[in-house]
Amino acid sequence: MDGNILVVDDEKIVLKSCEKVLAPEGYKVSTVASGREALDLLDKNRYDLIITDIKMPEMDGIEFIRQARKKNTDINIIVITGYPSQESIREALSLRIVDYLPKPFSPTILLDVVTRAMEMKKIGVAPQPDVEDYTEEIASKLDAIIKKSRNKLGSLIPVLQEAQELVGYLPPVVLRHISRGLRIPLSEVHGVVSFYSYFTMKPRGKHNIRICLGTACYVKGAEEIVKKLTENLHIDVGSVTEDKKFSLESVRCLGACGLAPVVVIGKDTHGSVNPVDTMDLLTNYQ
Ligand code: FES
Repeated sequence: MDGNILVVDDEKIVLKSCEKVLAPEGYKVSTVASGREALDLLDKNRYDLIITDIKMPEMDGIEFIRQARKKNTDINIIVITGYPSQESIREALSLRIVDYLPKPFSPTILLDVVTRAMEMKKIGVAPQPDVEDYTEEIASKLDAIIKKSRNKLGSLIPVLQEAQELVGYLPPVVLRHISRGLRIPLSEVHGVVSFYSYFTMKPRGKHNIRICLGTACYVKGAEEIVKKLTENLHIDVGSVTEDKKFSLESVRCLGACGLAPVVVIGKDTHGSVNPVDTMDLLTNYQ
């Protein structure tokens, strides 16, 4: 892989870990601690991708993206954020970011997000994320879903449900499509998606595994279950297996504390899971 990446974050550890993960992959990584320094570098060098934190002193990430866009309208930008639901992500979406990295992020997620962004750049796609899942066919099916519901009160949630069934998840490009189609501000669409845990902006596997890490489940061995699943499926929490069969998510409480520890696979709830038998849970879903 080659390409010039500029990482902007006021936390040294984030800069260092991005460099540590991306440089061995062949990327040329420049790191700076502020938006100002990054804007200076943008005047001097050409970059294929910017990865920027949102919360930074002096100039925050949103202002930096705004100014960076004036210098290079088509550059792909990924934002790093602690909470994808925070207000600033909505603004970032309207500034056409290609993706976001939840903080803290694992090397696998960082590489996955960067690889996708660089591939988009290579085939000449301007900030249009998740392009492989947003084909012309999908776009016209989305139009049909929107058409059915346009001008109907409370149409947003049913449209989002159908869109998620169609695409499998709700990437930024789909949210923008729905926002335009229903004439609802993007911030409102994003607000609904981040409020309901049913909706996801990240791809999920055929079988989505949700592990409860709430207190009751945690004290009864949820952490051991997570360890077993991540080791055996070879993915981190928040990722999808290579064959797209399983994805792994953690949740705070599933409201079934009496059954702790709880694991939900698709629509099936498994209670009182013995960590030793974790992998047996998956046999029916292979
Ligand atoms: S803490 Fe796990 S279900 Fe409540």
